[in-house]
Amino acid sequence: QGWVGAGSLGTFTALPLPLSTKTELPAPYGPWMDIAHELPQLIMSHRLRARVHQMPQLSTQHLRGREQLHLAHLVLSFITMGYVWQEGEEGTVQVLPRNLAVPYWEVSQALGLPPILSHADFVLANWRRKDPHGPLEIENLDTIITLPGGDSLRGFILVTLLVEKAAVPGIKAITQALGATLQRDGDTLHRALEELAGAIEAMRAALRRMHDYVDPEVFYSVIRIFLSGWKDNPAMPHGLVYEGVSPEALAFSGGSAAQSTVLHAFDELLGICHRQDTAAFLHRMRDYMPRPHRAFVERIRGAASLRQHVLASGDARLRLAFNRCVSALTDFRSYHITIVTKYIATAAAKARARRAEPGARAGPSAGKAPSALEDKGTGGSHIFTFLKSIRDTTREGMISA
Ligand code: ALA
Repeated sequence: QGWVGAGSLGTFTALPLPLSTKTELPAPYGPWMDIAHELPQLIMSHRLRARVHQMPQLSTQHLRGREQLHLAHLVLSFITMGYVWQEGEEGTVQVLPRNLAVPYWEVSQALGLPPILSHADFVLANWRRKDPHGPLEIENLDTIITLPGGDSLRGFILVTLLVEKAAVPGIKAITQALGATLQRDGDTLHRALEELAGAIEAMRAALRRMHDYVDPEVFYSVIRIFLSGWKDNPAMPHGLVYEGVSPEALAFSGGSAAQSTVLHAFDELLGICHRQDTAAFLHRMRDYMPRPHRAFVERIRGAASLRQHVLASGDARLRLAFNRCVSALTDFRSYHITIVTKYIATAAAKARARRAEPGARAGPSAGKAPSALEDKGTGGSHIFTFLKSIRDTTREGMISA
């Protein structure tokens, strides 16, 4: 499916380009697809849990190849998030029923992904071209599976996808930069670093489009809860029992942009060193990436230090290009903080004010806006401390003259 960003890792993964027709699972999985295509209605009318209980327990043996497995993971992840959060944060469940939990577990094991919605599902695997011959632009893109949140959800997913798409030349530049470092080829290295800086600048420009496509109130009050996990979340303190998988409750983090491979790859290439607690969270998020992505990031980590090479070369041109990358990454992270302020902090304050009004009107969802994750990201990190810390440590990665 939609492997645009870190999927296009050249020789590292060689994933095929997505085919817009590949948005359905084979016929035996009709019961999953039927539910998946109706998710917003089933959730808003409080019927999803009952539908899941009636679903047959399907074997995963008819799933063939990585694309089908990713599509199955996407479908089962969306059904699971809807199942868990259908009644809001005050009506959660403790058990995921076996007819959902067992195949979800098997598909997750096959991909090396956790059994929860991750960035790889929500964004990387969840897009199709409307016109199969048309461009990869937002007007020609749509999601495959959706949740409540209408156009804002669609916008949130697709704008994030455009950020990943903008990163693609930067991912390609990584392999060039590492090769050039080994060969001591200054010209190629310089070109690769300029390419990388340009890609990071384009990612920031793509992120701006969030304002055009995503309504902060809808994001905060309707969408966000469905990305929330059952680890570090006061609304689900005991985790979730995957029936038929393990008798113990298991805890998994919700979706987070910290699971996006591209930023991990850039950090490793540029030798950005995050502080202990944020680094620990970021590292844990690597377990939420597809296996080849994780391996790619580890390859970069194991390569000879680009930073040392640039320092040792004494080449001012290389140092400037390197610093342009670090500066673009810092700006991207600052801009992310601006977006989060609007879509989470300000939106949370408005939701609080609405709750305090006499005869408080409900949010645009059926229930009230969730409050358990006011100060945390859906991944469970402490939003502003975390984002500011990684932004600041990124800036510290500059090489001084
Ligand atoms: N991680 C994003 C949030 O915290 C989606 O809302």
